Amino acid sequence: MTTQQLCLPTVYLNGNFLPIEEAKISPLDRGFIFGDGVYEVIPFYAGRGLRMREHLRRLQRSMNELAIENPYAIEHWESTITALIERNGGGNVGVYIQVTRGVAKRDFPPPKGLTQTVFMMVNPLATPKPEIYAKGISCISLDDNRWLKCHIKSVALLGAVLLKHESNQGGFDEAVLFRDGYLTESSASNIAAVKSGIILCPPMDNLILPGITYELMIELARKNSMPLEIRRVARKEVKKADELWIMSSTKEVAPIVLLDDKPIGTGQPGPVFKQMYQHFQDYKRSLSAVSAAAE
Ligand SMILES: Cc1ncc(COP(=O)(O)O)c(C=O)c1O
Repeated sequence: MTTQQLCLPTVYLNGNFLPIEEAKISPLDRGFIFGDGVYEVIPFYAGRGLRMREHLRRLQRSMNELAIENPYAIEHWESTITALIERNGGGNVGVYIQVTRGVAKRDFPPPKGLTQTVFMMVNPLATPKPEIYAKGISCISLDDNRWLKCHIKSVALLGAVLLKHESNQGGFDEAVLFRDGYLTESSASNIAAVKSGIILCPPMDNLILPGITYELMIELARKNSMPLEIRRVARKEVKKADELWIMSSTKEVAPIVLLDDKPIGTGQPGPVFKQMYQHFQDYKRSLSAVSAAAE
């Protein structure tokens, strides 16, 4: 693979826009040595961010949790992200942002006063193919063996990487994770179930990432009077659910139709999913309408 294919050509590193081939980071960066850093992925449609502010607020919360000082004000993040997208030709893209504590002698305690490393790259937004919404995906149940601070969007992702790998090795698209008998999320997405027309959503505690898409889904459900409960969801409820959904910035909201090779509900995308899918598409269209009116 050439570096050209790794991401769109221009990246951002510590104040500079430069070709990916010229972006160099010290091997002593604590992000490389310890996974001591945080990240975000923000989807943009025709150059328009889907909830950029919410993503940047979550980035701030992740930095607060690790006591990494945010090097930029929110307006500076926004203008730099916009400039990076423009330099890469705009369009439908996902912007990846990573902030690490910086470079230091290898030692566990985080030293004070380091200069944070800020890296951003842009990738074409690979939203799922239409047949995924029409046919759904197949998942495996796995024990959630990640750490207990899953609400932090940390770059230390090995737990998630191994779970995703295990699901793919078994021929499944994704893993549905359970901790102590209760649904948490997927390796890189949130999960909700539907039973008797009610959307069942695991609470946003330390065991899951508070997904921006998840929050948007909950907001759209409330706005459209779709019944919803935020509470712990037991493994046996998931197995007997009528519908199961997976959500993230790159997947949007998609139906899971098979869990451990057994159908969820009818084994087809369900009616509540179809309603939510429509609300999500309408929301995306409203974004472009707002921006078209502003231009
Ligand atoms: C563990 C985990 N849960 C949920 C999500 C979904 O978050 P978002 O909707 O903000 O993309 C992600 C996204 O990367 C994730 O890594």
